[in-house]
Amino acid sequence: MADVIFEPLKFRNLTVKNRIFRSNISGRFDNYDGSGNQARVNWEVKFAKGGVGAIISSFVPVQIQGRIIPNYATIDKDARIPFWRAVGKAVHEHDCRFILQLSHSGRQRDVGGIEFKDALSSTDDKDPLHGFECKRMTTADIKETVTAFAEGARRAREAGLDGVELHGANGYLITQFLSSGINDRKDEYGGSLENRARFVIEIVKAIRAKVGADFHLQMKISAVDYNNAVLKFEKPGNTLPDSIQVCKWLVEAGVDAIHVSTGSSFPHPKNPAGIDLPTDILADTYDTLGGSGTNTIRNLLIFQNPLTARLFRQQWLEGGVPADRIEGSLLGDSRAIKAAVSVPIICTGGFQTASVIRNAITSGSCDAVSAARPLIANNDLVKHFAAGLDKAPKPCTYCNKCLAHVVEHPLGCYEESRFKNREEMLEQIMSVFTPAPFA
Ligand SMILES: Cc1cc2nc3c(=O)[nH]c(=O)nc-3n(C[C@H](O)[C@H](O)[C@H](O)COP(=O)(O)O)c2cc1C
Ligand code: SF4
Repeated sequence: MADVIFEPLKFRNLTVKNRIFRSNISGRFDNYDGSGNQARVNWEVKFAKGGVGAIISSFVPVQIQGRIIPNYATIDKDARIPFWRAVGKAVHEHDCRFILQLSHSGRQRDVGGIEFKDALSSTDDKDPLHGFECKRMTTADIKETVTAFAEGARRAREAGLDGVELHGANGYLITQFLSSGINDRKDEYGGSLENRARFVIEIVKAIRAKVGADFHLQMKISAVDYNNAVLKFEKPGNTLPDSIQVCKWLVEAGVDAIHVSTGSSFPHPKNPAGIDLPTDILADTYDTLGGSGTNTIRNLLIFQNPLTARLFRQQWLEGGVPADRIEGSLLGDSRAIKAAVSVPIICTGGFQTASVIRNAITSGSCDAVSAARPLIANNDLVKHFAAGLDKAPKPCTYCNKCLAHVVEHPLGCYEESRFKNREEMLEQIMSVFTPAPFA
């Protein structure tokens, strides 16, 4: 019998050869100014070679003030088009599609960079965990940002990429408008769900007006905000029924697929859901954020003190997902959204077992899965499935060390127990820099 994992998935404007998508994973591979480099190409090619049907890119800012941190390649001007064309071409050589994630951080900026000190958001309340400060966007700011998303989509199309994804999840700017836990506006972009969704619906319509109806456009959404998972005094934010309604509006406005995620911040205890929060690593790397927020030095001291670190870790894990339920933890939300809309659904969250993925698809919970950490750990996971294995020999442990390292160190798998020794681990992490342009 044919294996559903290897059945092509047809979207309105795009066909992907199998049901495993590389989920978005950002690492600081690029140049400070947002121009791309060879390491990014090398990184993406690893997954294309490994057999995924499509790669959904890292966070790609549509404006410089919308970046999370410097050293992420941007799509904020036409000069970026040749780089993204090169990435797409390299990935296409392995029969893999490339979908670019159009993104804007809003207030959720780990390191703002020197060009734009002030972050913009739906609100002027700072982010409560890190204390990232921001200014409330004016109507003129909103219009300019909507246009920047549409221009980003046009550039992605001109670069020959296969589609775009709106980063409407995990606490970035679109979430800051959608979420009832964050958006406190009194104008037509705040208040009711319809008003809070106005910003993203305007983006979808602007993209369609710019690129036409025949270019793939999907949206990553947090099905549930769990905005008070860590800070109990915060409002809970959007519910699943809220997000189902938003997805219906998105599809009416021209979105071709929904990518289901969770949580009104990044990271969030439920995303990426882990067996641990490595506060020992954060005690070293979180200093990168030291000047970014009013609470960052306090948080660093919390991570550096063993007692307070333990309390923070406990609270974080209490808001998370039990270790044995990390794989497929979002399938319930995905199933509910799939039942409400006509477009294909991609579900993220822990996927690395062929039988679990098969069951998720055949039971009608989703049409495809996306994987981030399992593919960081095993770039060639899909090849293992094709060879008949249910799991890679050394699966991802969901330790979240990759996440704790990424603000300061190269992105890669830092779980030493998966390697012969530390040297082998470092060699694997550093392999992204080869081939190097001037070696
Ligand atoms: C290091 C790291 C970086 C990530 N960067 C992004 C990102 O740029 N955009 C995004 O939408 N999700 C990002 N994610 C979330 C993943 O795409 C994915 O949805 C989440 O980790 C759950 O899937 P997993 O269990 O397969 O890792 C990131 C996750 C990790 C671990
Ligand atoms: S460090 Fe490696 S094993 Fe741990 S979560 Fe990341 S990819 Fe998985």
